[in-house]
Amino acid sequence: MKIVTIVGARPQFIKAAVVSKHIRKYYTEILVHTGQHYDKNMSDIFFDEMEIPKPNYNLGVNNGSHAEMTARMLVELEKVFLNENPDMILVYGDTNSTLAAALVAAKIHIPICHVEAGTRTYCNTNPEEINRVCTDHLSSLLLTCTKKSQENLVKEGLSEKGKLVGDPMYDAFCFYKNKAQEGQYKLKSIENNTALEIPKRFYYLTCHREENTVKEDALKEILTAANQLEFPSIYPVHPRNKKRAMEILKKYKFSKVYLVEPVGYLTSIHLVLNAEKIITDSGGLQREAFFSGKQCVTILDFEVWPETMIQNRNQLCSPNSEDILNKLSKHQVIDENYMPFGDGDSAKKIVAEINAFLK
Ligand code: UD1
Ligand code: UDP
Repeated sequence: MKIVTIVGARPQFIKAAVVSKHIRKYYTEILVHTGQHYDKNMSDIFFDEMEIPKPNYNLGVNNGSHAEMTARMLVELEKVFLNENPDMILVYGDTNSTLAAALVAAKIHIPICHVEAGTRTYCNTNPEEINRVCTDHLSSLLLTCTKKSQENLVKEGLSEKGKLVGDPMYDAFCFYKNKAQEGQYKLKSIENNTALEIPKRFYYLTCHREENTVKEDALKEILTAANQLEFPSIYPVHPRNKKRAMEILKKYKFSKVYLVEPVGYLTSIHLVLNAEKIITDSGGLQREAFFSGKQCVTILDFEVWPETMIQNRNQLCSPNSEDILNKLSKHQVIDENYMPFGDGDSAKKIVAEINAFLK
């Protein structure tokens, strides 16, 4: 039997890295890269480092508005699905690539398996919320990371399709953690292209959300807070924020923020494991902070992973420097026994659920 898996953005490469291995024990897997992320350090580096099978198709669709990108993906994905005639398509998460693949498959009656189903922010203007809600309602098999996601499906009348499998991001973290910790990594400054050593003590900062990009002052506020911390902040800059981040640093002469090129997964996990604390708006980073027992502030108006928001381990924060500094200074308690993201074996469970569905 044949499964077509669709990836396009870096969080999806990470999930596919752990899931594809298991899928391929039972199925012919055709891997489709939509091309949504295309820079070497946003795409190739993950395939190389994590030994993800080479995509059978790269559709080269990127840039443009949401509508433009999604529309171009719809056209290209339909050709692939008609050509491959799979028994199921597998999509991850909440990107435009996820939604485009689900829409195409639903219209030509191919069953859809959605991994990371049931995640909800209940913020209807958030592009990822729109993508994940629509994808869930088009899918036949909804595989959730947490009990909370499973409960969210119940509220929408989708419980019968939902199965709790755990979080493949946690599988990846468990699998690569030791390798990432032991590796020697260099960063590349985006200001002058030179190599940069990882300092002994630092904060790990990432910021790429549309919410923090369209608000003029959001990034300035975030960098202002980072510049006032006791240790420098390492910020691998998503390409969408590169220009603005560089302008802000130059204008305000922030010397404690290190702007570096996006890093690969192993370097990113190394940074998570060794950071003092984490400042982010990333869905993945806030879970990885949680997996590694690091305190995190998440600069968003809505909870993506409420499971992490206990004992100050992860606090929501507005893009305001005072709020960020205040939340970062709060005391953290860690209950090591609380692990709502499964046992690190979700890839096996995902395949078991697909087997049961397709039987
Ligand atoms: C997308 C996802 C978001 C996810 C993020 C992971 C959607 C709606 N959003 O957001 O959920 O958190 O990926 O990182 O799908 N760009 C480059 N090079 C690249 C990739 C992007 O220059 O390799 C630039 C392009 O100008 C592009 C912009 O970044 O227009 C935004 O990229 P896009 O893929 O639209 O959204 P992300 O912010 O990456
Ligand atoms: N990541 C990475 N390099 C970076 C920034 C992030 O490898 O420079 C990894 C990190 O593990 C994170 C994952 O990519 O959890 C997801 O990426 P991102 O934050 O872009 O997407 P989101 O999780 O918000 O959808």
